[in-house]
Amino acid sequence: MEEKVIIEKNQGQALVTENKKDNTKKLYIESYGCQMNLNDSEIVASILSKEGFNTTTLLEDADLVLVNTCSIREKAEQTVRKRLQKYNAVKKINPSMKVGVLGCMAERLKEKFLEEEKIVDLVVGPDAYRDLPNLLEEIDAGRDAINVILSKEETYGDVSPVRLNSNGVSAFVSITRGCDNMCTFCVVPFTRGRERSRDPQSIIAEIQELVDKDFKEITLLGQNVDSFLWYGGGLKKDFKKATEIAQATAVNFAQLLDMCANAFPKTRFRFSTSNPQDMSLDVIKVMAKHQNICKYIHLPVQSGSNSMLKAMNRQHTREEYKELVDNIYKIVPEMALSQDMIVGFCGETEQDHQDTLELMEYVKYDFGFMFAYSERPGTLAAKKMEDDIPQEIKKRRLQEVINLQQKHSLYRTQQHVGKIEEVLIEGESKKSNLHWKGRNSQNTVVVFPKENYAIGEFVNVKINDCTSATLIGEAIDYSENN
Ligand code: SAH
Ligand code: F3S
Repeated sequence: MEEKVIIEKNQGQALVTENKKDNTKKLYIESYGCQMNLNDSEIVASILSKEGFNTTTLLEDADLVLVNTCSIREKAEQTVRKRLQKYNAVKKINPSMKVGVLGCMAERLKEKFLEEEKIVDLVVGPDAYRDLPNLLEEIDAGRDAINVILSKEETYGDVSPVRLNSNGVSAFVSITRGCDNMCTFCVVPFTRGRERSRDPQSIIAEIQELVDKDFKEITLLGQNVDSFLWYGGGLKKDFKKATEIAQATAVNFAQLLDMCANAFPKTRFRFSTSNPQDMSLDVIKVMAKHQNICKYIHLPVQSGSNSMLKAMNRQHTREEYKELVDNIYKIVPEMALSQDMIVGFCGETEQDHQDTLELMEYVKYDFGFMFAYSERPGTLAAKKMEDDIPQEIKKRRLQEVINLQQKHSLYRTQQHVGKIEEVLIEGESKKSNLHWKGRNSQNTVVVFPKENYAIGEFVNVKINDCTSATLIGEAIDYSENN
């Protein structure tokens, strides 16, 4: 029953890329959950392309089916279980097909997957994708194969991901893996391991490759990007043990962002996700300095109540969060902000819920992703706290939070009407083949008549009208970014 207001693209559809003509085997790969998973699927497709696999959209044709899974809420896991039933049906037509499970569910369930789901031949955790060629040999030899070892070092820095279902305009580049925050409700620290950052040189090299292929917008990805810290490799938590030179020459997120924006002045940069406790004002100042860094921050708060924030092990209070938001708006007044919110966490009172609504009223987020609490096995909340809020109450609180967010989204989109804004064209509008669709710096979708403009161009658009989620306008000329 949890709900998400904005549906992420590419959930559970066949991911495809340009194929190599010498490759003869067929890979059907689909990805659930976060953008990080999608990017990991691109890494997997790249590794398997070297093993002779091309991607296909037809399950019936596949030699290998891979599903990259999400464990964040129970419903995400149920969706994957249903997909496995579908594969089971297809296997009757295509008996030689092998099925592998990747990602967070693989890491969480390990061998249990092989026992519980007969269809599954292969289980691979998020840090073990390099082992895929060996694991495939195992299953070719008729054995089940599993690797769920989490790594201290793995960042796939040297693997150049093939782009799956790409619009050719925007791409994701992973900069950190894992998370050390241990929010009490969250399964990610268990499924993705400890936090580590990727070598800035390999990040810049990957962006250069994308720019050479004419990509125009890069989103730097991590569970917690603001915590990025490169000091020559290794876990974030081991930074204090590094040599003095390594510490003195370390690169933090503000510096990485500045490097990227300087190195590629014609490329747009976005990043996700920011954890409030790790967000520094230096990052905001770098954003203010560069026209090519989009003025949008995804800044999940989860709750507006201090007692809930404490129970969730979020390392800040509502007052500190408000102060951060004040400072962000002070430095970049046009900044767009979005939230993740969990309603009905263990012990949440009506007053806690009112505090959440009050915080939302204070910030007036541009967008929001809102969920009912879903207990995850193995987390501290599951072990130590009671999931005691009845479903009907969770549902009602969720609806109240969603309704308020919709009001704020409409309020925020209305502020764009009458302005001229730079839009990067990403593709055709879903509703009309006479219109382009793109996003402005604040990440709001803008549609406008195509005229002679093309996908991948930056265009100045005069905004004439809006709905709660979309701006409607007309192009007025090319922008200076072209
Ligand atoms: N830092 C991460 C957060 C990953 S989880 C990122 O990159 O986005 C995404 C969101 O899912 C969280 O912010 C939280 O709002 C929600 N979430 C996580 N665990 C949850 C749970 N057990 N029940 C409901 N929602 C949850
Ligand atoms: Fe999860 Fe909290 Fe990290 S929500 S991904 S443990 S910042």
